[in-house]
Amino acid sequence: MIDSENDGVAGTAAREMEEECGIKLRPSDLTDLTELGLSEAVESGTIPFAAVAPSPGGCDEFIRYMYTERIVTKASLDKMRERLMGLREEGEYITLRVVDQREMWKVSADNKAMWYVWKTRNYFSLYVKHSLTPVLSSSALFLVDQLRKDGKLPPCGGLVNSPNDPILRMRDGRVIPMLAFGLYKVPSGSEGLEIILKAIEAGYRHFDTASIYGNEFELGKAIKLSGRPREEFFICSKVWNDAQKNGMTAVRQSVEASLQTLGCGYLDVMYIHWPVPGHFVETYKVLQELRAEGLVRNIGISNFGIAEYEELISAKGITVPPAVNQIEISPLMYRPENIQYFQDRGLVMVASKALHRVSGVDEGPISSIAAKNHATAAQVMIRWGILKRLVVVAKTSSPARMAENRAAVAVSLAEEELKQLDSLTSAEDVLAREELELQRKNGI
Ligand SMILES: NC(=O)c1ccc[n+]([C@@H]2O[C@H](COP(=O)([O-])OP(=O)(O)OC[C@H]3O[C@@H](n4cnc5c(N)ncnc54)[C@H](OP(=O)(O)O)[C@@H]3O)[C@@H](O)[C@H]2O)c1
Repeated sequence: MIDSENDGVAGTAAREMEEECGIKLRPSDLTDLTELGLSEAVESGTIPFAAVAPSPGGCDEFIRYMYTERIVTKASLDKMRERLMGLREEGEYITLRVVDQREMWKVSADNKAMWYVWKTRNYFSLYVKHSLTPVLSSSALFLVDQLRKDGKLPPCGGLVNSPNDPILRMRDGRVIPMLAFGLYKVPSGSEGLEIILKAIEAGYRHFDTASIYGNEFELGKAIKLSGRPREEFFICSKVWNDAQKNGMTAVRQSVEASLQTLGCGYLDVMYIHWPVPGHFVETYKVLQELRAEGLVRNIGISNFGIAEYEELISAKGITVPPAVNQIEISPLMYRPENIQYFQDRGLVMVASKALHRVSGVDEGPISSIAAKNHATAAQVMIRWGILKRLVVVAKTSSPARMAENRAAVAVSLAEEELKQLDSLTSAEDVLAREELELQRKNGI
């Protein structure tokens, strides 16, 4: 099982990686997890789970296996390949070794994470070049959690931390967590504060508020009360329409007021809430200035259609392209060409109202797909969004539903089911939404 002739597991891993992936590594570049006991590994923070495994194949074989077993879709397969290439470029190498391929208990895969749990054994090995990315540690934590629930691992302190969220990378190289907690209708005052504290406790780190939601203060306070460092959070707010209409000084004042109310030093993303005609280009220019001053890390647009985006980026003085566009997206409001247009131009697409406010999902295809996969309708909608490479913003005031929504990242959806979900939005739905958007943009 272990190549004792050379450098143990690390030597074997280095050799296999060279053979399989063409990557040259010294055994000393790798962490040999087999040398660490479970608790030592956890305590040292090297990895939350250590084991040894014989290797029937490396990553590529593992992916192929999952594909041939139809556990992942062709699209996911391609994304996973991309992800692996990305890891290699970043100098982080993983090989995932499967011990027993006969009884797979649960597999979930997307472009950013690979989660796999095996029923018959709890052995796997994960060779990581020194550092664990948030994605990998999240995968490992999830795996450990499942194995523990399954009685295959002894209880061990510190393992059941909330896994980090899957992430996407924005055009500036910074990451954005794919699960966001929406704050629309989260009340101000102690009730709202309590909800946000619970959301932090549940593991949410990406928070989506707006000056118009009236809860920036509670968000800032909850973050401070959590005792966690500011850098752990991804905080977004939005400039409302009245500031835009009142001109560039008002926009600057509005963003500065948001920052002061939040007390968080800088915003990870500041959005233009709606593209107010005749004003949004000027608003954007102010955000560019605030970005240069370090108060805003990335500029977001929200509810922008293709025409508004084109007007924006062709305007004089626009030098920094937006990083994200937040629009309504769910299986019940799916405009794929629109999404593709922006993704092709390097914007991360953020799905607002990702649960469609759970209206009309209690019966019909979403709930049958949910039942088939032992999931809830909300989970199916969230998972669908993640598989579309969207950041998914969902709101709930209930701690149980906070956990439920976060667990959606582990739901498996078959290709056929994804197709079915893709087909739920009618042309009439889109027309009705577009009419509403037009009214909003014009302040009606
Ligand atoms: N940029 C924009 O113009 C814009 C527009 C709309 C929304 N947004 C953003 O997107 C976020 C999400 O949109 P949204 O809040 O309008 O709607 P949503 O997230 O689609 O739906 C929220 C509703 O779903 C319920 N819910 C949540 N999880 C559930 C679950 N697991 N099971 C059953 N019900 C569940 C919530 O009820 P409970 O609270 O009772 O659980 C709430 O009534 C907003 O909070 C906001 O941050 C942005």
